[in-house]
Amino acid sequence: MTETVRINTSRPYDVIIGSGILDSCGEYLYDLLWGKRLAVVTDDIVAGLYLERVMKSLESSGFRVFSVVFPHGEGSKNMGVLADILEKLAEGGLTRADAVVALGGGVTGDMAGFAASVYQRGIPFAQIPTTLLAAVDSSVGGKTAVDLAAGKNLAGVFAQPVRVICDTDTFNTLPPEVFADGCAESIKYGVLTDPELFESFSRLDKSRLSELVARCVRIKGDYVERDEFDTGDRRFLNLGHTMGHAIEKLSGYTFPHGHAVGVGMVMIARAGEKLGLTEAGTAEAIAAALENNDLPVSSPYSPEELYSAAIGDKKRMGGKITVVIPEKIGSCSLKTMPVNELLELARLGKEGV
Ligand code: NAD
Ligand code: GLY
Repeated sequence: MTETVRINTSRPYDVIIGSGILDSCGEYLYDLLWGKRLAVVTDDIVAGLYLERVMKSLESSGFRVFSVVFPHGEGSKNMGVLADILEKLAEGGLTRADAVVALGGGVTGDMAGFAASVYQRGIPFAQIPTTLLAAVDSSVGGKTAVDLAAGKNLAGVFAQPVRVICDTDTFNTLPPEVFADGCAESIKYGVLTDPELFESFSRLDKSRLSELVARCVRIKGDYVERDEFDTGDRRFLNLGHTMGHAIEKLSGYTFPHGHAVGVGMVMIARAGEKLGLTEAGTAEAIAAALENNDLPVSSPYSPEELYSAAIGDKKRMGGKITVVIPEKIGSCSLKTMPVNELLELARLGKEGV
C-alpha cells in the first residue's frame, strides 16, 4: 500500500510513500522519464546500502543508468563537490534529454537537485529520500543548495523534482540520531498545524510511518503551494530555525540540524509563554515530545552567543527579523521585530521553564 501526496506547485508532482517500494522505483519513474538516461547521485554510505537495488530496478524497467558517488556528510555540500558531480554527469555523457535521480538524505537531495538544475541549464530530477528528514522536508518543496564559507545553503536555486519516491523501510538502517533529526522536523509540523500529528510523534508507532510521513508531506506541501518561492507563508516552516541555526553555527555544525531546530522550538515557545503570546505548557509539551525521541531540549550556548550567531542568519532582512511564535500546539504566528529584540527572546528562551 502506498500513499500519494500531490504537490501543486508551478510544475505539480507526486510524492509516493510506502514500505518496501525501493525495488519498484524504476516502475514509479517509468511514465515520467522513459527514454532518458539516468544518473543516480548518492553518497558513499547510501551507495553501500541501496545503490545496487536502485540501479537494478531502474535497469529492469529499461532505463540506461550510471551512478555518481560523493563522500557523505554536510562537509561535502559545497561548490567543489558540486563541480565534481557536474563533471561526472558530463563525463557520463548526460544530455539535455536525460535526468538525475537523487538517492539519499538531505545533503544528497540538495546537491543533486542543484546539479540537475544547472547542468546544461537544467534537466529534470527525481528524489528518492532515505532519511526521515529528507522524506518529510528536504525532498519536497524544491529548495536546492550548497553551503558557502559564509554560511549554510547560501548558493542554490528553486527547482521542484518531477517525482519523489520514499521507501520508509530505508529508515531502518539510519543511525538513531539521524532518525531523531527527522522526528524533530515532524514534531515541528505538529506544532505548526496538527495537534494529532504532534501526539503521534510524541509516542511514535513506527508501523504507521508511511501514513505519518504522508501527513508531514501534505503539511509542507500546503505551505509550499501557497508560497513556492519563500516570500510569505513558507516562513512558517522556519519554526525553531532562528535559534536552531545559531546553535548549529556555534557548534561548528556538529550539533545536527533537527536536534538544533528542536531546541530552537523549545526556546521560542518558552519565550512566547513569558511574553503572553504562547499558551502555558506549550514549551513543556514540545520538550517532552523531543525527549521521547531522544532529542535534546537545551544547548550549551549563552543568550548573547546565540544572539550574535542568529543576527548573521540569512533570514535577517535589513534591521528586522521574522520569527515563528507557537501560540499553542497546532497554531503559530509570524512576528517581525527589530533584530535587537532577538537578544531578549534568547534570554527568555534560555531560562528555566
Ligand atoms: P544527510 O544527507 O547528510 O544524511 C545524514 C547521514 O545519514 C549521512 O551520513 C548519510 O550518508 C546517512 N544516510 C542517509 N540515508 C541513510 C540510510 N537510509 N541508512 C543509513 N544511513 C543513511 O543529512 P539529512 O539529515 O538527511 O539532511 C540534512 C541536510 O538537508 C542539510 O544539509 C540541510 O541543510 C538540508 N535540508 C534541506 C531542506 C530543503 O528544503 N531543501 C530542508 C531541510 C534540510
Ligand atoms: N525547509 C524549509 C523550506 O523548505 O522552506
